[in-house]
Amino acid sequence: MIIFKTEADIQNYLSDLRLKGKSIGFVPTMGALHAGHGSLVIKAKDETDCVVCSVFVNPTQFNDKVDFEKYPITREADLALLLEWGCQVAFFPDVEDVYPNGMNAGSEFDFGYLNTILEGEKRPGHFQGVGQVVSRLLDIVKPSDLFMGQKDFQQCMVIQKLLELKENPYQTKLHICPTVRDADGLAMSSRNKLLSEPQRTLAATIYQCLVSIQSKQSTDSFSVVQRECLDLLTNKDFIPEYVSIADANNLSLLEDFDAKRKMVALIAAKIGSVRLIDNLLLN
Ligand code: PAJ
Repeated sequence: MIIFKTEADIQNYLSDLRLKGKSIGFVPTMGALHAGHGSLVIKAKDETDCVVCSVFVNPTQFNDKVDFEKYPITREADLALLLEWGCQVAFFPDVEDVYPNGMNAGSEFDFGYLNTILEGEKRPGHFQGVGQVVSRLLDIVKPSDLFMGQKDFQQCMVIQKLLELKENPYQTKLHICPTVRDADGLAMSSRNKLLSEPQRTLAATIYQCLVSIQSKQSTDSFSVVQRECLDLLTNKDFIPEYVSIADANNLSLLEDFDAKRKMVALIAAKIGSVRLIDNLLLN
């Protein structure tokens, strides 16, 4: 595995590969890597000639300063995992490499409706920051293939929109990979490292709620199941932010189940100071 820190060095290496006709798979991350990230790297290895994984805790996507400050950083462990997964290129840029003209210099992206609901509504500025960093990383790596997790369902949609807005200059194909879960159903997440043991035990409640929404979709009305989930989360020490269902193709929010559509259930909830999100395709 080769480790790069600067744009010039990684571009030099990758442009050579591109000239040789090699495909480049890209997995952007914020580090504190876990098996969810690993599944993306392994899928990228299957599908492309060279896998690039970036590790960069992007300041511009944190709407909450404390969340940024306590975001776990595990550099040595990240490198060891990337080696184990067979990643060929690791990119560990500094803020100055990603934002050479300062953090406010990037263009604004119009994500439209996506920016007004769920994560867009609850985390103002978050998707602008994600768009800014992914746009910049795409311009550095110029990947043929981009691998992202369904765990961040709305983020995948935002990135698909970003590719459209940028007129997809490198003809990058977005691959959305399934959510990797712990044995009790909790979606793996870097933020899980911040949970205390009792919180970690309770955290699987989010997945239990998603499964209960799925299992009641043809028997109950969503408002009843939603109320049950909100109550269950609250009883288990969560502060729920949303329990919603949406059309999985465009994320338009639904008042009730609609078997004619492909649906997704999405939950965001805080336990202590740790905010967790998850989702499940319903049909
Ligand atoms: P991060 O949270 O590190 O996630 C990096 C990628 O791993 C994302 O595509 C995310 O959806 C995926 N991922 C996380 N947990 C997963 C799981 N349990 N199963 C499968 N995939 C999972 O998402 C970000 O970083 C940032 O917003 C980023 C896109 C890197 C921009 O800064």
